[in-house]
Amino acid sequence: MLAVVFWSLPSIKQEFVGSLFEGPSGVEGEIMKIAIIGAGNIGGNLTRRLTSLGHEVTVANSRGPETLAELVAETGASAADAGEAAEGADLVVVTIPECKVPLLPVGFLDGANEEVVVVDTGNYYPQQRDGLIAAIEDGLTESRWVSNQIGFPVVKAFNGIYAPNLIKRARPKEATDRLALPVAGDDPRAKNVVMDLIEELGFDAVDAGSIDESWRQQPGTPVYGMDADGDSVRQALADAQSVRMPEWRA
Ligand SMILES: NC(=O)c1ccc[n+]([C@@H]2O[C@H](COP(=O)([O-])OP(=O)(O)OC[C@H]3O[C@@H](n4cnc5c(N)ncnc54)[C@H](OP(=O)(O)O)[C@@H]3O)[C@@H](O)[C@H]2O)c1
Repeated sequence: MLAVVFWSLPSIKQEFVGSLFEGPSGVEGEIMKIAIIGAGNIGGNLTRRLTSLGHEVTVANSRGPETLAELVAETGASAADAGEAAEGADLVVVTIPECKVPLLPVGFLDGANEEVVVVDTGNYYPQQRDGLIAAIEDGLTESRWVSNQIGFPVVKAFNGIYAPNLIKRARPKEATDRLALPVAGDDPRAKNVVMDLIEELGFDAVDAGSIDESWRQQPGTPVYGMDADGDSVRQALADAQSVRMPEWRA
C-alpha cells in the first residue's frame, strides 16, 4: 500500500472526488496502486472512479497503450501493456471477456506487490460472446476457472453491476438509495480489501462467501444485475439455485 490519507484532511483524494460524493469526514482511506486489465465498459469506468478517488491507476487493453490516450487524458491514469500494467500493483482488476482470459500474457502478475489482490469482474456469456468453456459448463464456477487460468486466487466483484452505474449510482454511506454489491473470495484479507474499496466507491459490499459458492452471483441468478440494498442482495444470494439454465449454456 502506498499511503494512508484521511477524508477529513485536505488531500488529493478529497479534491478528486468532486461532486459525485464526499467521503464522510474522518473515514480512513488508503491510496493504492491499481492495475486495470481491460479498458472497456467496466475497466473504463473503474479507471474514472478510482482515479477520481486519488488511486494511482494503470490501465491496459489488448491493442496497446497508445490506443488508450483518450482515457489517459480524461482521467490522469497511466497506460501500459497488459504484461507490464501490474508492475508494483497492490490491486489488479481483470475485466476482459471470459474467452480472452487464456490470452493474458504468461506471468503478467509476476511483478505485482507480493500481497497483491486480484479482482475478477468477468461473466461467462457462452451464446453471445465467449463460446464454449467446458470446465464452466461442467460445473466449475466462472471465477474458479479464471483463477485457474491466471494461476492466482481472485476475488469476484463488480460482475453484476451495469457498467454505467459505477458512476451514476455511486452514493455516500448515509444515502437511502445506495446499492449493494456481492463479493466472493477465499482469502478474507483480500476480500476485505475489495469490500473496503467498494464502500469507498460509493456502494455497500456484501460478503457472498467463497469462490466455490460464487455461482450465487453469476449470470442468471436473482442477484445478477439487481440494483438493490444489502438486505435484498443477501436474500437474492440465499435464493439462488445452482442450476445453469439453458440460456447460460453454450
Ligand atoms: N458491460 C457491463 O455492464 C458489465 C458489467 C459487469 C461485468 N461485466 C463483465 O466484465 C468483463 C468486461 O466487460 P466489459 O463490458 O467492460 O468488456 P468490453 O467493453 O468488451 O471491454 C473489454 C476490454 O478488454 C480488453 N481486452 C480483451 N482481451 C484482452 C487481453 N488479452 N489483454 C488485455 N486486455 C484485453 C479489450 O481491449 P481491446 O479493445 O484493445 O481488445 C477491452 O478494453 C466481461 O467479462 C463482462 O462480462 C460487464
